[in-house]
Amino acid sequence: MRVLGIETSCDETGIALYDTDAGLLGSALHSQVQMHSEYGGVVPELASRDHVNRVLPLTHQVFEQSGCLPESIDAIAYTRGPGLVGALMVGAAMAGGLGYAWRKPVVPVHHLEGHILSPLLSANKPAFPFVALLCSGGHTQLLAVKSFGHYALLGETLDDAAGEAFDKSAKLLGLGYPGGPALARLADAYRLDEHHKDWAIQLPRPMMHSRDAEFSFSGLKTAVAITVQRLGKQYPQAPWRSALAHEVQAAITDVLIAKSVLALKLTGLKRLVISGGVSANRRLREGLQAQAQTNGFEVFFPELSLCTDNGAMIALAGAMRLQHGAKATTDFSVAPRWPLEDLG
Ligand code: KG4
Ligand code: ZN
Repeated sequence: MRVLGIETSCDETGIALYDTDAGLLGSALHSQVQMHSEYGGVVPELASRDHVNRVLPLTHQVFEQSGCLPESIDAIAYTRGPGLVGALMVGAAMAGGLGYAWRKPVVPVHHLEGHILSPLLSANKPAFPFVALLCSGGHTQLLAVKSFGHYALLGETLDDAAGEAFDKSAKLLGLGYPGGPALARLADAYRLDEHHKDWAIQLPRPMMHSRDAEFSFSGLKTAVAITVQRLGKQYPQAPWRSALAHEVQAAITDVLIAKSVLALKLTGLKRLVISGGVSANRRLREGLQAQAQTNGFEVFFPELSLCTDNGAMIALAGAMRLQHGAKATTDFSVAPRWPLEDLG
């Protein structure tokens, strides 16, 4: 089965062609990060308008790149939600229009299901059942995934998401928007530099020992803000920024690692699947791999290019939905708020 995937839920236009036998045949992505960075965050109306401009050219690009013709596809999958309503509507309208013109069935996909399944596009694929840690800019959730389509929420963040904690801390450090990857680079540079002095920076690991699968990251940014103020006054020129970035990354990833291990213990499951933008983080990956060895579980990640939003995970989820009996749609609706548990 061959499926075209269309992702437009936030600030990335992602298009891909996925074949259940041959794998990923082609993909194209346009990130709006530069456009939104001027405003310090995503401007919904600008996001929708940019999706309108990008979605068709990127679709052409994917067909050209893969050497496939629209006749050869079996279905079109689009992100129905959750996300920004205007942005979602662009993908829904495009999927509906192409489906009508090409006489192909259209399948709505849950964005978070796309993220959770994205490690199935790696060479090392997880089998069901598994615990999923979904950590993106908008979500931090631990789920027990018994089988395809059955997602039981074990716990989630009570306030900020892990990616949001990275981004807000990065902003306080003057690293722009979204600063998660820049903060991670600064943190890793600190590790390599032997000449830094010990800045004695200690941040809290919120709820790390709460014995449940809930998270809270909003207090962390207050602690970061206080530290930036204190050190900035004392050492205006000093290179403490990378030490602070290092500690921010350690605090967030320590909590994610500890809670993932706890979720495996609580459920008795032996596989952990990580996804979402933060799953690109090197310290998180290495930390989980080390825990997997000591605690006797397996850990699975998406390819680095598939951690953030993309069309491939939507095409894959759409193909799996069809394989599991999903009916094609004709209403092309969007669902800006859509609990993952409603799928089961
Ligand atoms: O999944 P995603 O593309 O978008 C949402 O659906 O939210 O995730 C984006 C988030 C941002 O907060 C970004 O800063 C974070 O993922 N991120 C990272 C890294 N790469 C992306 N955070 C930490 N380390 C990284 N290497
Ligand atoms: Zn996402």
